[in-house]
Amino acid sequence: MPVITNIEDLKRIHERRVPRMFYDYAESGSWTEQTFRDNSTDFDQIRLRQRVAVDMSGRSTASQMIGQDVSMPVALAPVGLTGMQHADGEMKAARAAERFGVPFTLSTMSINSIEDVAGHTNAPFWFQLYTMKDTDYVSRLIQRAKDAKCSALVITLDLQILGQRHKDLKNGLSAPPKLTAKTIGNLMTKWAWGIEMLSAKRREFGNIVGHVEGISDASSLSAWAAEQFDPSLDWSKIAKIKEQWDGKVILKGILDAEDAKMALKVGADAIIVSNHGGRQLDGAISSIRALPSILDAVGDQVEVHLDSGIRSGQDVLKALAMGAKGTYIGRAFIYGLGAMGQKGVTTALEVIHRELDTTMALCGETSVQNLGRHNLLVPEGFSGRWEA
Ligand SMILES: Cc1cc2nc3c(=O)[nH]c(=O)nc-3n(C[C@H](O)[C@H](O)[C@H](O)COP(=O)(O)O)c2cc1C
Repeated sequence: MPVITNIEDLKRIHERRVPRMFYDYAESGSWTEQTFRDNSTDFDQIRLRQRVAVDMSGRSTASQMIGQDVSMPVALAPVGLTGMQHADGEMKAARAAERFGVPFTLSTMSINSIEDVAGHTNAPFWFQLYTMKDTDYVSRLIQRAKDAKCSALVITLDLQILGQRHKDLKNGLSAPPKLTAKTIGNLMTKWAWGIEMLSAKRREFGNIVGHVEGISDASSLSAWAAEQFDPSLDWSKIAKIKEQWDGKVILKGILDAEDAKMALKVGADAIIVSNHGGRQLDGAISSIRALPSILDAVGDQVEVHLDSGIRSGQDVLKALAMGAKGTYIGRAFIYGLGAMGQKGVTTALEVIHRELDTTMALCGETSVQNLGRHNLLVPEGFSGRWEA
């Protein structure tokens, strides 16, 4: 059993264990991957202020996200095709999150369905919605999430059209993988993944196949999904979906203060400062760099969360100290899932929790709720509230 000390360890095992097309799907950004890289390197520029001789006993990472208690303010982000990284991936990740006391967000483009995850967990999870042209289908999806007692709807705003990731095209990404000479060659080296996948509950998009007329297999599905994302999504449509949902709404993919103000206007309960992990607009700024100006614009009126680039508890602390009330991890938990299934997701959460707790202590803080700008040293080039 390898000794796992950080998220990078999980990533290395993920790469060894999971078919290349799914590893590449997770590990890529769009086009030149500049934004994907910036998400990490901008976190690296922020320095922490060490304090000493502070009583560090009785520390707590507990907090709340949209009024829900969390053992640490780190949710699992919605990740499409999670069930291709490991058999029954969404069910396993949701259970790991439940046991850890953090929210799990199920993607529209998941392999396990809303009902699969609801049947496998007790804690309410969050459902992420991609808006589609087929409004009847969207209405049915919202109703299914309501029936499953999902406690928040996360509406993703930054994917009306799909950013291009070169490797996905070159690898012929599909779920399940299409059998070509190249994929068969690669799959033969991933036998443990394959054996587990044979007994998986599903190997196709569980929220779609069987729920949309004419979609009964994955080959017609990819064409359907490419055609179906709604390029006409605007604030009035978002307001309508919010009305339909009639519960907590989180708007995901905000990177600009003007959009944050619009999100406030439609009555979002929280916004996620996110560039989709560098997978959409290549050349957009990193989330952590966008955070200060968004906090300036709306920070005291709506809960501001952040994702993109978080690979450690130090990153989580930096985002919280900057003013985010919650954070999300995408790839960090996917590495764990691909490496070791549910246990790997738990390990990823444990690693991040341990790092967050220790970093907090060495910064002289005993609660994540007391973190603030006083814990950080001013990096050059960060704007907004940062310089206020
Ligand atoms: C493989 C992969 C698939 C994703 N699928 C979705 C999705 O279906 N819906 C969505 O809103 N975001 C999706 N995202 C974006 C994540 O929710 C999140 O914004 C991103 O992963 C955060 O960056 P990080 O991976 O650096 O933590 C996906 C991200 C990855 C890596």
